[in-house]
Amino acid sequence: MAFLLVQCHVSSCAFIARHSPLICSSRLQDMRSLFFAARSFSGASSFASRKKGGPLRIHASTIQAGGITISREDVVKEDDPTNNVPDTVFSKLGLHLHRRDDHPLGILKNEIYKYFDEKFSGKYQKFDDLSPIVSVTSNFDDVLVPPDHVSRRYNDTYYINSDTVLRTHTSAHQAEKLREGCTHFLVTGDVYRRDSIDATHYPVFHQMEGFRVFSQAEWEAAGVDGTSFALQDLKETLEGLAKRLFGDVETRWVDTYFPFTNPSLELEIFFQGDWLEVLGCGVTEPAILENNGRAGTVAWAFGLGLERLAMVLFDIPDIRLFWSSDPRFTSQLGIKFKPFSKYPPCYKDISFWINDAFTENNLCEVVRGIAGDLAEEGFNLI
Ligand code: DAH
Repeated sequence: MAFLLVQCHVSSCAFIARHSPLICSSRLQDMRSLFFAARSFSGASSFASRKKGGPLRIHASTIQAGGITISREDVVKEDDPTNNVPDTVFSKLGLHLHRRDDHPLGILKNEIYKYFDEKFSGKYQKFDDLSPIVSVTSNFDDVLVPPDHVSRRYNDTYYINSDTVLRTHTSAHQAEKLREGCTHFLVTGDVYRRDSIDATHYPVFHQMEGFRVFSQAEWEAAGVDGTSFALQDLKETLEGLAKRLFGDVETRWVDTYFPFTNPSLELEIFFQGDWLEVLGCGVTEPAILENNGRAGTVAWAFGLGLERLAMVLFDIPDIRLFWSSDPRFTSQLGIKFKPFSKYPPCYKDISFWINDAFTENNLCEVVRGIAGDLAEEGFNLI
């Protein structure tokens, strides 16, 4: 047993506007004005309604996701120790922010679609309505995530039962799309991770996965090996995408590690005086291709976080705002975000005994179930 003093930091919505002026590409200006013109989000799912100034309220116990109807009982099972999905997370399923053309995430998705459509004459198949409920196999095994990897833990992933999770990344669909015979595809969707909540973290966010398969004839015609060929194409494609979104920015490649690619890279851009990580990518591990009917080919893949990019592109200072229906947010998104509350954060101290099973994520979920998304963590174990 240990004694825990919790300082629960409740943000007052005093979202701080960034001070640095934005460097705008004309494309970015276009995206902004599109959003500005849209004024407020439309196309909310039928089960959700908005109270003035409040978050989306859910009052139905079924949602539509991936073309199927999912009931609360399918996802939240309080008596099942292999289930750790809270109602607050269930309420986000099926909201499909990325499918709303007037939402910053939808605008960004469409802009990336346009880049691929124009550059590759509509060759990329696009999927944005695949169910976020996937098997452990698809989410982890199929993309070679090691059995002992931290991301598989109950502390990090939402499990519906021991075999089924809320996808933690859109890479969960790579294998299934390969088996269906797709060679060029983009998968956009909501992804779920048990995480803290603050201005830049939220347990639900959105990713886009890109994937392209090359045949042997393609790299032989170029006179290079398959990996070099795919890597070159990957770099050109993604540098082009970064320029399309951010204007004529400086880019750099940083080596990293992902279980599903080798080599693995991150693309960074120099934006507003800082290097900003834009996405992860690499040349697909041959085993993924072999296991899914594509032996003898080479492929590249990338995954990008839509919120992260949209926050920079639209100057949105807090990730929670993507879920807001507050007219003070939806009606004002122009060049620079203005704070709509001047109240400082409010600290609450609570203390209680804990046992060895305690994790911060569990406590945060209990607190958020009552206090909502403005409760941020700050723990002192004494
Ligand atoms: N799935 C990774 C993540 O969620 C992102 C990613 C990195 C996807 C590299 C890829 C890739 O397809 O090649 O962090």
